[in-house]
Amino acid sequence: MHACVANSHSAPTAPYRTSDQTSFAYVSARDRWPVILTQAIDDVFRTTRDHTDPEKIAEGKRIVEKLAKLKYEVQHDRVLSPIEDDGAADVKIYNDELEQLGSPKWFNVSWLYSECYLYRRLHSFFAPTKYWRDYDPFHAQKNSTFRASLAAVVELATRYKQIVTASHDDKEEVEVEKEKLLFTEMMEICLWGNATDLSLLTSLTYEDIQKLQGSKARKDAEANILANDLPKVFEVLRKAKESGKVSRRLDIVLDNSGFELFVDLVLAGYLLEEKLVTEVVLHPKCMPWFVSDVLPEDFTDLLAALEDPVAYFNASELTEEQQTGLKFLHSNWNGFYQSGQIRLREDRFWTLPGSYWRLPAVAPELYEELKTAELVVFKGDLNYRKLTGDAEWDPTTPFEEAIGPLGKKDSGMRTLALRTCKADVVVGLPKGKDEELRGEDVLSRKWGWSGKWAVVQFWDGKA
Ligand code: F6P
Ligand code: MG
Repeated sequence: MHACVANSHSAPTAPYRTSDQTSFAYVSARDRWPVILTQAIDDVFRTTRDHTDPEKIAEGKRIVEKLAKLKYEVQHDRVLSPIEDDGAADVKIYNDELEQLGSPKWFNVSWLYSECYLYRRLHSFFAPTKYWRDYDPFHAQKNSTFRASLAAVVELATRYKQIVTASHDDKEEVEVEKEKLLFTEMMEICLWGNATDLSLLTSLTYEDIQKLQGSKARKDAEANILANDLPKVFEVLRKAKESGKVSRRLDIVLDNSGFELFVDLVLAGYLLEEKLVTEVVLHPKCMPWFVSDVLPEDFTDLLAALEDPVAYFNASELTEEQQTGLKFLHSNWNGFYQSGQIRLREDRFWTLPGSYWRLPAVAPELYEELKTAELVVFKGDLNYRKLTGDAEWDPTTPFEEAIGPLGKKDSGMRTLALRTCKADVVVGLPKGKDEELRGEDVLSRKWGWSGKWAVVQFWDGKA
């Protein structure tokens, strides 16, 4: 990983800033960050209370103090101070950039930089300690949210088993059409991962799929996808499969753990079973990040939860059939994991403060690797902000222009963003759509903050 000058390899358009009171940047800094820090304080405090080792308790107390100080600094609009050296090389990258930004204050700074800084600074409180170095203050929260999604998990497990054990004995054109419909459904389930409408789920038979495609709920949800490049993506994967290419890799730059990771694995397992790809590489974070992002242990936790669902979900009401469905998922996905067809690949690049405009210059090895994939899927909102530099683009700006080097004709990488909108930045919209969605609230893009709308945008840098 190479350090780079903050201002090079960045979007030419200004990034959203916490000083803009009409933006979600401001709302996040004012309302969300203090709450997130309070939750982390409560978690570490409770965990410390349960310990008896004095050294561990002392370290825990020190972490709580540092978290409380950070919260105070945010709420009182203090200057962002350099991150203390915790032994990792990325601290210098953060601090160099902070200096170049002119030692900004919390309410007058680029949103993307300051939000990444917040989580990196938080990690620096844990990383140098003896007992808390790998502690994730959001772990308990992630687990309880996942437990609450048991009903949806059970339903998806049943559908998944039906789909992957279905026979393929229709005529070829029907099989391709069926594959395309299932592919679209799986991708859309993956897209709406953190607010899945169960009526979006796929079904086994061609007739059922057609019915589903025609269903009102499905149509309604599709109408909320403001740009949808899925047909192009299907063609790319289908052609690669037909070409007889033996090794076809899919990379997923993950977002959140729990239910969202669960649907990512539904997608990964489906694509492997259908042989639309032969290998899936998952990119988790390597430190607690934006509360719910996937850490490697969240992946193993998820597999363990499916292996013994009654214990994990504390759900003795699960029927034998439901348990079998969840255990089927475990053996199917664990089989792929053990054989190396699904694997995790960590990289500190994903937790740097900059946008993905910097990928070729800052993480050339990672970039070269991603170029070998048939497709690289970027999940969720933060990845979209990083792809586009979290900049104040005109919303009709073409996606390829907004993603900079990755959007070049010969970037060598195929980029797919699966994003429900939870921030201000958006590109690739038809002319007039943003104005229509803003309605009377012309000053802010509040429609883009709630996750109700989505964009599925693709750029083929191998074409
Ligand atoms: O603080 C708000 C926020 O950071 C977003 O706007 C951000 O991008 C999101 O939370 C995280 O969403 P996701 O998990 O989809 O990346
Ligand atoms: Mg996230």
